Amino acid sequence: MTPLLEIDHLSMAFRQRSGFLSKPRLIPAVIDCSVSVSKGEVLGIVGESGSGKSTLAKLVLRLLTPDTGQIRIDGSAIDTVGPREFAELVQPVFQDPYSSLNPKQPLSSIIAMPLAVGGVRRAEREARARDMLDRVGLPARLFRSYPNQLSGGQRQRVAIARALVSSPRLLVCDEPTSALDVSVQAQILELLDEIKQSFGLTYLFISHNLAVVERVATRVAVMYRGRIVEQGPSGSFFSTPRHPYSQMLLNSILPPVVGRPLPNLAPTRRSTIAEDAGAGCPFRVHCPIASEICEQAPPVMKTGDGMQVACHKAAQPLTERGQALNPIGG
Ligand SMILES: Nc1ncnc2c1ncn2[C@@H]1O[C@H](COP(=O)(O)OP(=O)(O)OP(=O)(O)O)[C@@H](O)[C@H]1O
Ligand SMILES: [Mg+2]
Repeated sequence: MTPLLEIDHLSMAFRQRSGFLSKPRLIPAVIDCSVSVSKGEVLGIVGESGSGKSTLAKLVLRLLTPDTGQIRIDGSAIDTVGPREFAELVQPVFQDPYSSLNPKQPLSSIIAMPLAVGGVRRAEREARARDMLDRVGLPARLFRSYPNQLSGGQRQRVAIARALVSSPRLLVCDEPTSALDVSVQAQILELLDEIKQSFGLTYLFISHNLAVVERVATRVAVMYRGRIVEQGPSGSFFSTPRHPYSQMLLNSILPPVVGRPLPNLAPTRRSTIAEDAGAGCPFRVHCPIASEICEQAPPVMKTGDGMQVACHKAAQPLTERGQALNPIGG
């Protein structure tokens, strides 16, 4: 079966100029990432701040253009389809419903926006927007209201209604509950789960919060400094993380607490992915089990037990690793 989302050797670097005539500095944000997601799955993407999660999401949403590599959704290369078809392939749900909704537009226009891009007639746009308002659990009386008349949770429901109105196959959710109160977070996660079932959707789900990812994801990809360093089924990942970086992430959140963010191994170095890429493994300076080989060559992705791990030591039994494993629930 063709995967619903295929990301193939994708790379993208930002170009930053310090002056008008200066040569741009390259900031690699996504480096040779490959991942595929089957229909109906939820791929959770985790990793510390600056690891490239949102950049990957923006590449899938065509808000950024890759330098190399390809993205296919439902078999279509996204750089070959027109705006209407693209709106029917993928839609976003972003973190902050305050800034992602135009305050000057009523909900009727906000929700119908992806249909306007696709050239759908006004009467049909309104009918479909009304239907979506109902599907996300908002009362019909809010149809002509403005975002500032709503609570944070209601605004995120509007963002979800807008994402659904063009009947996309894939939703890209970038920290969809991070700006919300814990009780509202749970309601929005429930709504996302419900609409996934009823609309037959597939999700790319980015979150700082590993407890949320454990709850929603069927597969997990871990990003570290622009690269995917581990990916595979969620259950296997959370019970037995293979990469030393994944182990550090999971050890640091025991017991899982909703709302606790991921630790940052290098919080002051958010934009320095390139600096220590060097010849070896990019994680070696933080890795408790790094050895000579990790200084010399970058690890290739190894596959086993359904997991893919970019680590020279990944073939060793987990108990031989330098750090004691203490996975969630273990
Ligand atoms: N517009 C931009 N211009 C230059 N560099 C950028 C830009 N946006 C992101 N970056 C850099 O690209 C890298 C990846 O950033 P990205 O926002 O994708 O990380 P993230 O994993 O989503 O982080 P967070 O968890 O904080 O949201 C970082 O080094 C960041 O500083
Ligand atoms: Mg981000």
